[in-house]
Amino acid sequence: MRRGLRRRWRKSGYGRERPSIAGKAARETVIYFDNAATTLFKPPSVAKAMAAAVDTLGSPGRGGHDAAMRAAEEAYACRSLAAEMFGAPDPSCVVFCMNATHALNLAIKSVAGPGDRVVISGYEHNAVLRPLTALRAKLAVAAAPLFRPEEAVAAFRRELREDTKLAVVNHVSNVFGYVQPLEEIARLCRERGIPLIVDASQSAGVLPLDLKTLGAAFLAMPGHKGLYGPQGTGLLICGAPARPLLEGGSGSDSRNRRMPDQLPDRLEAGTLNMPGIAGLHRGLQFVRRSKAAGLLRHERLLLRQAEDLLRQLPGVELYAAEDAGLQTGVLSFRVTGEDPEVTAAKLADRGIAVRAGLHCAPLAHDTAGSGGTVRISFSAFNHSGEVRKFAMVLKENLL
Ligand code: ALA
Repeated sequence: MRRGLRRRWRKSGYGRERPSIAGKAARETVIYFDNAATTLFKPPSVAKAMAAAVDTLGSPGRGGHDAAMRAAEEAYACRSLAAEMFGAPDPSCVVFCMNATHALNLAIKSVAGPGDRVVISGYEHNAVLRPLTALRAKLAVAAAPLFRPEEAVAAFRRELREDTKLAVVNHVSNVFGYVQPLEEIARLCRERGIPLIVDASQSAGVLPLDLKTLGAAFLAMPGHKGLYGPQGTGLLICGAPARPLLEGGSGSDSRNRRMPDQLPDRLEAGTLNMPGIAGLHRGLQFVRRSKAAGLLRHERLLLRQAEDLLRQLPGVELYAAEDAGLQTGVLSFRVTGEDPEVTAAKLADRGIAVRAGLHCAPLAHDTAGSGGTVRISFSAFNHSGEVRKFAMVLKENLL
């Protein structure tokens, strides 16, 4: 990184979170714009807490000795913070998962069964489509064009019929950063008494999200994206009765051959990922300290900068909202006449990490009529110098 850029980045605030030596080296060799897949660079407190957890934390609920008790305290502190941040009735309603896919499977399979009518938005990820297909649910897609929230609300109003068992909504599209009208859709579900599952994979950490206010049945989210925790972590915030996906030891009610009724034990069979939970806890603290609105503002500034620079390039087709409030720090584009995978490979050759193709969300591409895109997505640890370099590299490849 050039000295001027480094100075600006440090001044930006997030740059003051000093990385480890390995993290610093990685940040200087790659421009990482694939944060919608996973945030690669984390606040340094995340890795430190994980390393300490490996040496100091036992298994919560599996003993009264110090290591087990320290683990129980760490897990409870993480649950309590998540409960506070996402409006869970109490910390026991926060369930630790492997990722958002795990959380979504738990939620969907707790509510829907074979033949049930389930209404979904046109921007759902395979983490929603595949479990519903495996369940043999009857899918009704409340499809509406990209960045047209009124039409999305109208589509949900039409589809949320009396025989609907469940609604699932992707709060923010992982492909387009499109912020769907969640509050209005949640209100329609509440009025009709239809349980709602929110896929908050791209919104947790940048947008307000409150289970109680939405009146949702479940919020599902990864720990490793906007919450800056490590891979292998996710959260399910529960506002409705849930069914286990796995059975096993819970450290409680051990004579019962079935999983206990109470949360979180009911959904947490087997030993918890304590290093992951300790890391996620520090990621949550970082988000709370930085404030979601501040993180979103930072990402949106980079998005607008990228949009302005890409608009000057001939042959680049952008999927950008006119109203900035409808998009987070995720931008899809295509270079006319070029396979998105080829564009991404050229960028990767120059040290710029993006994601191309269908992004595990073919339905979103079908709804938007895109057939595949190149996606850039920002985090707190990106800065404007990187956006300028990216636009320059793209321009060189277009000539
Ligand atoms: N769903 C993740 C993405 O959008 C992995 O890349």
